[in-house]
Amino acid sequence: MIPQWFIEEKRDGHIHSEKDIRDWIRAVTDGTLPDYQISAWLMAAFLNGLTSEETAILTDAMMHSGECLSFDLPRPTADKHSTGGVGDKISIPLAPLCASLGMAVPMISGRGLGLTGGTLDKLESIPGMNVHLSTKVFQQIVATVGCCMIGQTNTLAPADRRLYALRDVTATVPSIPLITASIMSKKLAEGAQTLLFDVKFGSGAFMKTEAEARELAKRLLDTGKYLGRTCRALITDMNQPLGKTVGNALEVSESLDILHGSGPWDVRFLVLEEASAMAVASGLFHSKQEARTAAEKALDSGNALTYFERMVQAQGGTLSQGLPEAPIRLPIPARTSGFVAHVDAQLIGRIALKLGAGRLAVTDSILPAVGLEELKQQGDRIEAGEPLGWLCAQDRARAETLLAEAQQAFTLTHTPPPNRVLIHAMLE
Ligand code: URA
Repeated sequence: MIPQWFIEEKRDGHIHSEKDIRDWIRAVTDGTLPDYQISAWLMAAFLNGLTSEETAILTDAMMHSGECLSFDLPRPTADKHSTGGVGDKISIPLAPLCASLGMAVPMISGRGLGLTGGTLDKLESIPGMNVHLSTKVFQQIVATVGCCMIGQTNTLAPADRRLYALRDVTATVPSIPLITASIMSKKLAEGAQTLLFDVKFGSGAFMKTEAEARELAKRLLDTGKYLGRTCRALITDMNQPLGKTVGNALEVSESLDILHGSGPWDVRFLVLEEASAMAVASGLFHSKQEARTAAEKALDSGNALTYFERMVQAQGGTLSQGLPEAPIRLPIPARTSGFVAHVDAQLIGRIALKLGAGRLAVTDSILPAVGLEELKQQGDRIEAGEPLGWLCAQDRARAETLLAEAQQAFTLTHTPPPNRVLIHAMLE
């Protein structure tokens, strides 16, 4: 493979051969290709696209650029990937719930960037919790506890790390085939046989429209099929925040409510839907209804909570000490009475970011305790002066400057709004 011929081929809209794609990724990984040639190809691929077959081969090559885990366990392995959204804490109760239903869940998650918080940042608000384990320890915890949640290791899909760093600075991130190969190479290297994708769309998500979310879901599913994994995808609404909390420790606290059988309806609903879809796709249950009943029972009986407690303990964390709490708590008073018709996820995400709950650059540090809590949700009735939610902040002045913006995030109407539709499609 001559690098400039490979770049030229994609620049002119042609299709690469399997051998050339594999050689290209080998050269990306071993460092023989300079950044400028990789960047030129990324732009050509961004502009002219990759076919489904090219995407699958690229994914496979990127997956094999590093260590690929495998599990020899009596339980089926399953995992989910969410494209992320404001208040998306689903993975935290989902992994232990799936483990309690009989799956082994090897979950490798990311940190938050921009509006959407990362599962790792949230988990790290638990005192002592270690999300940087070797793959050996990770595999042991998955085998003994049933689930483990860690961050990306240096050994899994190293080609993606190099490509993603270049995409980030060459405006080539938002490309369906490149996103697919990036997400899937890491997820497939983790070794789970069944994968569920939660592809979110809306103001608080990476994909702004349902059509874009469906396109990404289709490419993820095609790639999974080509590479012999069982995959499902949900298309879910992210125009409004998920649950009543946004912020790291606050979202862990809400996840614990879910694991105690309570918590906001939308988080519980999505956790139950995702767990039952994964349980059926893994072959543990014949029908969705059967799986759903078992999942409800596991949440309501505290069985799933036991798995979470065991996982936290195995990863060095303690729940008995409680979670960090912000020193300042300021109510967001409603200016008028009415029904909450809409909560703007993007605005709420921005406020959380300004409070310090998220980061704009990967090197930024975050404040674990800050964010928003007790947020009113679509359909809730509120009287003027009552709190629409609370700002949890490190200092009062910062919270006060964000009050008006927080009020603007809520649209109130005189009549009750229609019910919120959270799941728009389930694709296979
Ligand atoms: N998340 C990833 O892991 N990769 C992308 O390309 C986009 C989102």
